[in-house]
Amino acid sequence: MSLLIVLPDRDHKPWVEALERIHPGLEIIIYPEAHDKSKVEYALTWNHPRGLFTNYPNLKVISSIGAGVDHIIKDPSLPKSVIITRVIDDHLQQDMADFVLGLVLDHIRNLSFHKEMELAQEWKPKSYVRPQNVNIGIMGLGILGSYVADTLLKNRFNVCGWTRTRKDAETIDSYCGEKDLDSFLKDSQILICLLPLTPETEGILNKELFEKLPINAYLINVARGEHLAEHDLLEMIDNGHLSGASLDVFHEEPLPIEHPFWKHSKIKITPHIASKTNPVSVAPQIIENYKRMLNNEPLLNIVELDKGY
Ligand code: NDP
Ligand code: OXD
Repeated sequence: MSLLIVLPDRDHKPWVEALERIHPGLEIIIYPEAHDKSKVEYALTWNHPRGLFTNYPNLKVISSIGAGVDHIIKDPSLPKSVIITRVIDDHLQQDMADFVLGLVLDHIRNLSFHKEMELAQEWKPKSYVRPQNVNIGIMGLGILGSYVADTLLKNRFNVCGWTRTRKDAETIDSYCGEKDLDSFLKDSQILICLLPLTPETEGILNKELFEKLPINAYLINVARGEHLAEHDLLEMIDNGHLSGASLDVFHEEPLPIEHPFWKHSKIKITPHIASKTNPVSVAPQIIENYKRMLNNEPLLNIVELDKGY
């Protein structure tokens, strides 16, 4: 039996090396090289060509190389019997938390502003706020959101979270569902999106939601581009309701050269690098799942398809 790697727009070599180091002799096939499709039971993928998996009669598991699985689930032709798994990894959590903390500190301590002033050779001291006086709202307290929340708390910020199901958190105010959304947004001076992309969350960062944030609120979107109504963001920054945004993810990636976000003085852009999967760190859980599949044992990190994440 073979493990198929389908990474059309990524380098597969680090994956092959990491998997072979742990499981020497594993038969790995790299899409689109010629292969016997009936031998493939396990696929490891990111952004596979739509419809591809309908051609694999014995496929049992499709495994995302990352935390998100929207790139798999959005394929309407996925075989119904296939189990989808994702990655849960300490590196991903830590890197996301470091990145978000960096953005938050940049925002409250005006670091980008002072860099601009340096380039313009202008001496312009600007007042700043301290973490204990900043309320941060995190949409999504899952594997990444809850780690980000802990990191911000350790750095003295006030943190609250919004989720689908109620949480019994002692250290943060927890809000849940549609009925709590307005109360959650009311005091969120910095709003961080760490939701999965599902039919319920697509387009959730829109004008109606932004209007419920306090004046001067700041948006950080490190989840998925499709969470954001891009024109609404531009409107709400330009009319002064929002003070700006840091965006790591976009509807179209790479962000097209003509996109208005690039030149907007109040929007910071990074190229989907908040937290990148490290093949060496993640390979053990992929191999573990591969072996479990062969032995008909329950898999790790299964995605609940009815929830969509
Ligand atoms: P999880 O699946 O672990 O957590 C999802 C969280 O969102 C849960 O707390 C869940 O609530 C909540 N949620 C889901 N649907 C709703 C809803 N309709 N209303 C309210 N809350 C909801 O996700 P991860 O933490 O692993 O990932 C978060 C995001 O980060 C994903 O979009 C992922 O794709 C993205 N990502 C981005 C990276 C980057 O480099 N920019 C890197 C890695 C991931 P509940 O707890 O009640 O289930
Ligand atoms: C992920 C990502 O979901 O890199 O892991 O966005």
